Amino acid sequence: MIGNRGADGCNVVTIKEIAEMQALADEWLRGGSRIGCVPTMGALHEGHVSLVHRARELSERVVVSIFVNPIQFGPQEDYKSYPRPFERDLSLCEENGADAVFIPAPEEMYAVDFQTHVAVEELTTVLCGATRPGHFQGVTTVVAKLFNIMKPNVAVFGAKDYQQAVVIKRMVRDLNFDINIVVAPTVREPSGLAVSSRNNYLSEQEKVEAATLYQALCLGESMIQKGERTAEKIKKAMHHLFDAVPSSRIDYIEIVDADTLQPMETIHKAVLLALAVFIGPARLIDNKVVEI
Ligand code: PAF
Repeated sequence: MIGNRGADGCNVVTIKEIAEMQALADEWLRGGSRIGCVPTMGALHEGHVSLVHRARELSERVVVSIFVNPIQFGPQEDYKSYPRPFERDLSLCEENGADAVFIPAPEEMYAVDFQTHVAVEELTTVLCGATRPGHFQGVTTVVAKLFNIMKPNVAVFGAKDYQQAVVIKRMVRDLNFDINIVVAPTVREPSGLAVSSRNNYLSEQEKVEAATLYQALCLGESMIQKGERTAEKIKKAMHHLFDAVPSSRIDYIEIVDADTLQPMETIHKAVLLALAVFIGPARLIDNKVVEI
């Protein structure tokens, strides 16, 4: 356990070993505390901070995990270049009331002969699951491990990763984890751009262009509110907005049932508008639930 890290006065408890994290969690639970956890891959931003605050409201002890999980990245994806500003992250955790940060090395999490995975089936075949094969299996496997390590009563995830939250809730239900999954709202820049660690990859101009994701969601929402029910027409209008954005490449724009994530052709109940768009080098995702 690393306590006081010195000159900068940052002394949040920093834990690198699984056994040590489990021992601290056991001690907290024996003392009658509820544990709230916030699993992250670091490069923390305002969105993560809001999750820490929510965990703080719901539990006496808060632990943030920072782990860039290799098994949720595809071979052509940004595992190596993913930002890792660990010192800054630790300070942010401390300033925002975390009691501990669990920050293991990849070798601590995955033994060389690791061979067990957790997979949620149908919910991961659509949206990001369709274009990032293996991604959600990597997520559910690491989250299941983190739950066994941090032993939380409550775990907080962000609504920007809507599909991830739905998939994790299903894993928790299907495998009987005794953990309350809380989903906190997406934090946005004034332009509407959802805050994300991957916004770090954008130039100032690309950041302006990236606000088109939110504009497309708002356009879709307003069409539904005005009575449009044909998903294809709405998706087409959302697609068109990106014609004026030279740095964009659409991965998907979908309208799905907000509960099952299955495509909906004629809108007859709450839907999720979801999109993934490359802006320059960054693959950005965003979503909006629209009730009717
Ligand atoms: O949302 C993320 O940052 C990651 O997918 C998570 C949940 C921490 C698992 O690595």
